[in-house]
Formats: sequence, structure tokens, C-alpha cells
Amino acid sequence: MKWLIMEITVAESAGFCFGVDRAVKKVYKLLEQRKQVCTLGPIIHNAHLVSELESKGVRIVSDPSQAEQYETLVIRSHGVSQKICEHIKERQLDCCDATCPFVAKIHELVLSFSKKGYTILIAGDESHPEVQGIIGYCQTQPICFLNESELQIICKKNANFHKKSLCVVAQTTFDMVKWNKCLAVLKDLCPNAQIFNTICSATANRQSEAKELASKSDLMLVIGGRHSSNTNKLYDICKEYCKKTYFIESADELPMAAIKKAEHIGITAGASTPASIIKEVLDTMTDEIKTSAHDTEENFEQLLEESLKNFNTGERVVGVVTSIAPNEVQVDIESRKQAGFIPVDELSNDPTAKPEDLVKIGDTLELLIMRTNDQEGTIMLSKKRLDSIKGWDTIVKAEEEKTVLKGIVSEVVKGGIIVISNGIKVFIPASLATASRSEPLEDLLKKEVSFRIIEVSTKGRKRAVGSIRALLKEERNKKVAEFWENAEEGKTYTGVVKSLTSYGAFVDIGGIDGMIHISELSWKRIKHPSEVVNVGDTVEVFIKSLDRENGKISLGYKKEEDNPWEILKNNYPVGTVCEVEIVGMTTFGAFAKIIDGIDGLIHVSQISNERIEKPQDVLSLGQKVMVKITAIDFDRKRISLSMKILAKENAEVKPEETDVKTQETLEVNDTEPSAEAVQETKAEATPEIGAEATPQSEDADNE
Ligand code: F3S
Repeated sequence: MKWLIMEITVAESAGFCFGVDRAVKKVYKLLEQRKQVCTLGPIIHNAHLVSELESKGVRIVSDPSQAEQYETLVIRSHGVSQKICEHIKERQLDCCDATCPFVAKIHELVLSFSKKGYTILIAGDESHPEVQGIIGYCQTQPICFLNESELQIICKKNANFHKKSLCVVAQTTFDMVKWNKCLAVLKDLCPNAQIFNTICSATANRQSEAKELASKSDLMLVIGGRHSSNTNKLYDICKEYCKKTYFIESADELPMAAIKKAEHIGITAGASTPASIIKEVLDTMTDEIKTSAHDTEENFEQLLEESLKNFNTGERVVGVVTSIAPNEVQVDIESRKQAGFIPVDELSNDPTAKPEDLVKIGDTLELLIMRTNDQEGTIMLSKKRLDSIKGWDTIVKAEEEKTVLKGIVSEVVKGGIIVISNGIKVFIPASLATASRSEPLEDLLKKEVSFRIIEVSTKGRKRAVGSIRALLKEERNKKVAEFWENAEEGKTYTGVVKSLTSYGAFVDIGGIDGMIHISELSWKRIKHPSEVVNVGDTVEVFIKSLDRENGKISLGYKKEEDNPWEILKNNYPVGTVCEVEIVGMTTFGAFAKIIDGIDGLIHVSQISNERIEKPQDVLSLGQKVMVKITAIDFDRKRISLSMKILAKENAEVKPEETDVKTQETLEVNDTEPSAEAVQETKAEATPEIGAEATPQSEDADNE
């Protein structure tokens, strides 16, 4: 099929309005905090989002009495009556009030006027939850009307109505055309009425933009939930100006056959349509169009970027903080002599930051006006957007000049972390966030980090990418250079064990790694470095040797004072009587452990006074026996032990003298085989036993 080259325009106002966006974000935030959430009615009129939330465990209740005590009950943007609020309080439920501030303002108005005895007239659908909530704040009996003719009937039916104190408000989504007609009736029949135009500009803007777009398009797509009254209203408006208007809930319902024939396609969406669904619709169309000769994917992405970005920029003002609430900050706007509010989401780019941590009462803030409603005296402001405008310049400059920036890690996201710096979100990919991939990203949360900007994108949505690793690498290179300048053999360092291998342990000695060979870890034979050190241990090491050419550092760890031969020299002179453990046996004798790392030999002739053929006749492995050290050859690392001499001496001395068992110095009995002779025999006959029973020192002669 041949495709037409088509133009697609997405209405700037399509999708979530401020109030809905705020309510949905609140629910997601509660879920992030692992709360059990239930909402008082569906949070928005969008089946997709509601079922997504349901899949995350969010329950919908129709009454506070259905909420469980452990749940957080969310009041949606429509708001609820005073009575329901009281019921929630009585039940002491954990409540998150997501009432749109524009709706809350109407509650304040009707409460204060009805308290003064005014009759409240509400332009709107009495059965709509928002109107129900407003009615619930009226202290006098309110009257609702849907259009100018209903209003006329009400005015005429009530005698002296024009003399009454009347206060008139409108449902936030009330039709502006109808409202203007109602105003004419009021002017005529109730000239003294206090009238407040409480229609939300978001709705009016969306409707007028839809009308304009529909009149220029030959096919219109209206995306939204079938139960959403504002989406239905949009559909009606578009249908009036564009015959081929389609109401779709998701991309599955795209009328592809009609789309393929269209040249100008307009897209709008209701206030409760998530951006993800608009994107899905565009993506689906993109995929289809990719098959045409013209690859318009880029255009679609651009369109999407444009359509999703916030257009609510306006005048810059200075405000002084007058009060701080969990959900918003109130300010006095100096130039306008008016109060305004900054929703918590508009304070900072950090979604986890609390208002009280960001501003103090009395602080002077530079702010951007997002929306004004002079009749209601409501001014919605943003700090984060102005910070972003200013911060972006700093980011771009930092990339050009390669300067180091600092920021706080606000989130760990898929593939990396988000750092807030100068009010801008900077993405740092996981591979560039830490010195090594094994370090968990979560450890960086809420911490200040230094980084460089490595990429900025100013096309479409602005993006900045940073790297912490680039800086860590520079710092490391500096440390390495310093190390080699000052390093010398014998110099000691305190290091941290970074990794272990079968042949040694790698130790970070301040930005550079050295290795302790397994033979340098212990004076005794060990099978693996983990018998002495573990990853993360802090160790004292010294430089054993340096290979400057190849950048290799050999470290020493075991200390001379722990050398078992030194211990033996000091504490076990020839003649010492001590307890030993049989650790090996051969035909000519048994090897016995004197202390860790040092074994001696009890020659078969020195085991017993009786004649025995082999050591096994008397001894067994693991057995502890008393011996006398009869000879030590420090050069060849050989020690001779005797059980026989000890037994003989014990038999000769008086019983009371036998208590003295250690440190007794004797001369080696010339009649017995010398230590040297015995050890030589052992070395020839059973080298493997010697190797097992002796220290692992490189120069240990017993090996
Ligand atoms: Fe609030 Fe207006 Fe939306 S009143 S909920 S921002 S339509």
C-alpha cells in the first residue's frame, strides 16, 4: 500500500492536568514507600492506569469504612465532603489528601460564604464526585444547575431570590460557553450575587485547543477513558469540527485503515490520560509508518517530545515563604501583593526531598508563575522550573569547560543514578557511577558526589549525562603518580584487601594495588589466602619489592616477631620438655608439631624404652605426647625430639621433682642418632611428609 505523507499534531494540553498528575504521583510515591494503598474511588478515569495500580496492590474503596487500619487512604483530586474527612479522622486512618488545590479553593469559598448565611449556587453536575464534595462543604442548602435555562427556572421559582445573599461557583470542568450564558442570566436576575469563576483553565485550554486542532485536521484521535466526562466532552467538541473523530482508549483501538488515508492527524487526550498511553499510540503509528518510503520516526519522536514537555512557563516573580505544609509552600509575591503556592512537586527535582528541608519561612525565592486565577486569587508557582532554566546554563558551561560539578544522588534508576545538580537532573550510567561495577549504586543514595558532564543534548528534551568514574580515574592517576614518586622497599602502608586469588591477596594501599604472595601471608603453610585475610580487611603491609617498569608491587605481611623459628629460639631451647602433637609418621620416626609452623622428628629409636619396629606400634596421628627437645639445627631447620630420654629421666628422678616439665636444658645424648642424621634420612625417604609438616617459608630448608 502506498502511504500518504502525513502530518501529526499532538495537542500541547493533551493528557494529565496538574491536579491529576499530582494525585497519581502521590499514589506512586506511597507505593515506593512500600505503603498499602487504597483510593477513595478510582484515582483517575483511566482503566489502564487503574488496573496497573491494582496490579501493584492499590485497592479502590467507595467509603472510608472499607479502608483497613494498616492502609493509607488516598483522597483523589476531585476532593470529598467535610463529613467524609471527619469520618476518616474518626477512624484515625492514615490519609493522603490529593485534592486538587483548585478544588480545595472552592471548598474554602463555599464554606466561608455559607457560614455567613449565603445560599450557594453551583454550576455543575450534582452527581459528579467533585460537586458532591463541594456540596459537602456548604453550611446552607446549596442549589445546582446544569445550564442557563435551569438557572433561569431556579431564579424565577424562588420569590425574592434576587434579594438573597447568593454565592455562585462552578465545577472546575464546567463548560465555559455555558458559564458565560449563565453569567448573563445572573446579571439580569440576581445582580448582587457574588460570582466566582472557578472553572479550571486546564479544561478550558484543552477544549479550545481541541476545537482549533480538529478544525485543521482531517482525522482526530481523542485518547482517554470511556467513563471520563472531560474526554467525552473533548470527543463531542472534536466531532463537531472534524467528522473523522475517533475515541480510543489505547493504541489497540487505532483505526489504522482510516489513519493511512489521512494527511493531517490531530491528537488530543483527556485530563486523566497518562503520557505513556499517548506515547504508545504514537509509537504504534510510528511502527506502521516505518514501512513507508518516508521514515518519519524522527518526526514522531520530536512531536512526542514537544507534546509531552510542559509549556507552563511564564512571568518570573520573587516570593517570600510564609508557611510550609507537607504538600505545598505558601509565599507572598512581592510584586503582586498576592499570595501564591508552590506544590511540593514544583519545589525541587528531587522527588524524595521534603519541603521543610528545602526552604525556611522568610526565605526569598525566585519563582515562575505557572497558573493564575485572579478571581480566586490562586497563583500556582514553580521553583524547580526556574532553577532548571538557570541550572541548565551551568550544566552546558560545565561540559564546555570540563569543570567538576557537585550534586546529590536522588534516585537509583534503571541503568544508573540521577544526580541533582544546580536544579538539573543529571543521569549517570551505572558503568560511570562507581570506580568498579561491584560497588552497589544504592550506597550512593543521598550522598554528595563530584562528577563531570560528558554529554549534553539540547535537541528536544534537554538531557545531561555525567561521569563520576572519569573523576575517580583522574584522582587515581594522581595518587598512582604520587605513590611511585615516594615508594621505596620496606616502607609500610595501611591498606584494604580488595580481592583474593589462590596465589595471594591484592591490597589497595591508597589508590594503587599491591599483592601479598600467599607465602608472605603466614609463617605456616596455608592452602588459601582466606585463611589469613578477607576482602575488606584493613591490613598493615610493607613493600617487599617494586617492579617500576611493569608497575607491580610485592607486599610483605607476616612479621618477624611472628616467625615461629624466632619463637622457638626464644622459648624452646634444647632440653625443653613440652607437649607435642603427632602429625605424621614414617618407618623411621614420627613428626610432631611443637608450635604452629614447626615440627620436629621423634626417631623410632627415641619413642620408647622398649624396642619397637615402627612408630605406629606406639603412636597414632593426633595423639599428644610429652617430649624433650634434644637438638635444633637452625640453619637446616631441623629439630630432634625424644620421648625415651624423658621417660628415662622421669623414672630416675624422685616423684616430687617430676613436676618440672619445661625449659629444662639437657645435652644431646650422644648414643642417640643426631638430629641431622635423622632429618637427612627423613628428607631422602619421605620428602612429602617433611613438606607437609614444615613452614611455608620460601627458604624453609625442611621443604
Ligand atoms: Fe485540578 Fe483543573 Fe485538573 S481543577 S484536577 S487541575 S482539571
